[in-house]
Amino acid sequence: MAESAPHGAVASQRHDGILVLTIDHPPVNALSADVRRGLADAIQAAQSDAAIQAIVLVGAGRNFIAGADIREFGKPPQPPALPDVCNAIEASAKPVIAALHGAALGGGLEIALAAHYRVALPGARLGLPEVNLGLLPGAGGTQRTPRLAGAAAALDLMLSGRHAGTDEALSWGLIDRIGAGADAQAAGLDYARELLAQGAGPRRTRDAAGLADRPAAQAAIDAARAQVQSRQRGLFSPAKIVDAVQAALDQPFDEGLRTERALFLQCLDSPQRAALVHAFFAERETAKAPETRQARPRPLERLGVIGGGTMGAGIAVAMLDAGLPVVMVEQNDEALARGRARVEQVYDLLVKKGRLDAAGKAERMARYTGATRYEALADADLIVEAVFEDMDVKLAVFAELDRIAKPGAVLATNTSYLDINRIAAATSRPGDVLGLHFFSPANIMKLLEIVVGANSAPDTVATGFELARRLRKTPVRAGVCDGFIGNRILAVYRQAADLMLEDGASPYQIDDAVRAFGYPMGPYQVADLAGGDIGWATRKRRAATRDPRLRYVQIPDRLCERGWFGQKTGRGYYLYPDGARTGTPDPEVLAIIDAERQRAGVTPRQFTQEDILRRYLAAMVNEAANVLREGIALRPLDIDVVFLSGYGFPRFRGGPLHYADQVGLPRILADIREFAQEDPHFWQPSPLLVELADSGRGFDSLNRA
Ligand code: CAA
Repeated sequence: MAESAPHGAVASQRHDGILVLTIDHPPVNALSADVRRGLADAIQAAQSDAAIQAIVLVGAGRNFIAGADIREFGKPPQPPALPDVCNAIEASAKPVIAALHGAALGGGLEIALAAHYRVALPGARLGLPEVNLGLLPGAGGTQRTPRLAGAAAALDLMLSGRHAGTDEALSWGLIDRIGAGADAQAAGLDYARELLAQGAGPRRTRDAAGLADRPAAQAAIDAARAQVQSRQRGLFSPAKIVDAVQAALDQPFDEGLRTERALFLQCLDSPQRAALVHAFFAERETAKAPETRQARPRPLERLGVIGGGTMGAGIAVAMLDAGLPVVMVEQNDEALARGRARVEQVYDLLVKKGRLDAAGKAERMARYTGATRYEALADADLIVEAVFEDMDVKLAVFAELDRIAKPGAVLATNTSYLDINRIAAATSRPGDVLGLHFFSPANIMKLLEIVVGANSAPDTVATGFELARRLRKTPVRAGVCDGFIGNRILAVYRQAADLMLEDGASPYQIDDAVRAFGYPMGPYQVADLAGGDIGWATRKRRAATRDPRLRYVQIPDRLCERGWFGQKTGRGYYLYPDGARTGTPDPEVLAIIDAERQRAGVTPRQFTQEDILRRYLAAMVNEAANVLREGIALRPLDIDVVFLSGYGFPRFRGGPLHYADQVGLPRILADIREFAQEDPHFWQPSPLLVELADSGRGFDSLNRA
């Protein structure tokens, strides 16, 4: 074994006649300019070095290579370009073996596909996730993957962005073998020695025969195109991926690479790419709240949940799924039995769908304990209260928790609106109290608002973030106000929608417009799904403190008074005959809306889709600016993440404030001022929005501050 000087982020080492190139660029060996240069130089030098017979590529640390360096996107490109590095690897006159472990994603997999042979260790994850960033694999991936694995497998990987395991990759021919052991370098060296002993030379993917069955390949491309048109509506890069694979079938390899490059550059320039990359980094940034730097989390070994309703059961499932033991407390045996049944129901459904086996369910339920006495929570490290949304009830629960919880236990409330500081004051230990606002269904929805009270201790907050990490949730730090970040802003844009309803738009038109923007559902479909009774209770609670100058639209109340709470009652804004999951428009609802317009003395007017969206989004952005100004959210990106992960805001638009920057703040402000001419109380421009627009800045300037 001989050492040689490292090429920047790529170290080279000789093992007899085999050169091992180790990509060592923490945290994930992304292909930054340094790495590309190091690889290109080393490959070139190896060509003229007679002592080198073969080259092995490995990654240092936990991964092979996680892909192109996403931080470089949008900056001036630096040579060498990744496609050139891949082509140089493929052109090597000496066999190149890629030894994969951990993540081999995006450009990382493209490097491996350009190598001549591939071995992967068990647990390696192979994928082309560029679609999630609004891109396509731009370093030969769209041309080499189908040549190696066939068009169907290549399109599946590239359109879903999912990670494939080694068995699947082997069955597709994406890798040649699965290595034994846990040492990628050893597996690569073994393979290289074997190949040299056999006298094997370079075997180039450009010559592979995965597209030889042309009719089958064309059928796979046609099917993918149809799927993209029906399911990935509004997205830019999926259709380009299909175009690139068509080029792989129709064009010689080098021409196909040029087509891929042109399509890649179109994607790179698209606003969707900028939005999706913003979302990628924003989601990682929200996990780094100041308290996580100031303090270490407390232990999290035993958890408690109070309440076995929909939320409590969902939270318990999320915890059980994360491998944590959970004690659920309910008021009496009957309620506890219902709570346990709700937990089991979630698992039974998964078993029915084949996503969990009976042993998996048993293993999770073995960690579940039910109790009807608070004393069962005496040794819990963290307890989440998920009882009825009523201040007096919550105060009573926290007084009990204060009595029985061990010193240092974190006491969390899952309230959606209520004042955490009042709840904390019901205990003798307000430093241990915080809000953990889960979203329904709590075992599925990614968002977790971590609500920090005036007295929450930094290590209490850090423990909330640690819980989110264990549960694989996306945590966002929020301050205390009515509705925190998400529900507070939602209340305002929902109000904007209700105002349009009274002024002449139908709920169906509004839902259509919001879906056309990219949301999976419109606000009235969501209301029907969530159940109108919840919003009704909130409106009644707020009635006494409502600003009398604000218009109050009574349409939702008229439906609730009839018991039309949405899907669960068979009708709401829509009709759900015979338990249907998708609703149909209801003429009676339209008649009620008409009557309400008359009662309010409103002459209905027409709204175009654009009118609807301008109002809906301006209301959202304006209230978001208020939330920022008051410090309820730390940065604009925190608000973006709340709406992306909890409220269905289309990811390819990057979140409401990234979107606002793209539209331009002066334009949004001009809209608000125009709407204010009619209704100055509702449409009051946020001082922060005015300040940013007037000084020519965007919200993003506050992300970087
Ligand atoms: N470029 C730059 N930084 C990256 C990165 C990338 N491709 N992938 C991850 N990182 C950074 C993260 O931002 C994070 O940084 P901070 O610690 O400063 O926040 C750090 O690496 C660790 O990332 P995670 O927290 O996500 O770590 P994890 O262990 O949970 O996951 C991973 C690791 C599976 C690799 C995950 O990071 C991931 O999926 N990364 C993105 C992979 C990807 O999309 N690759 C394709 C890139 S596009 C491409 O390659 C285009 C092309 O063909 C030219």
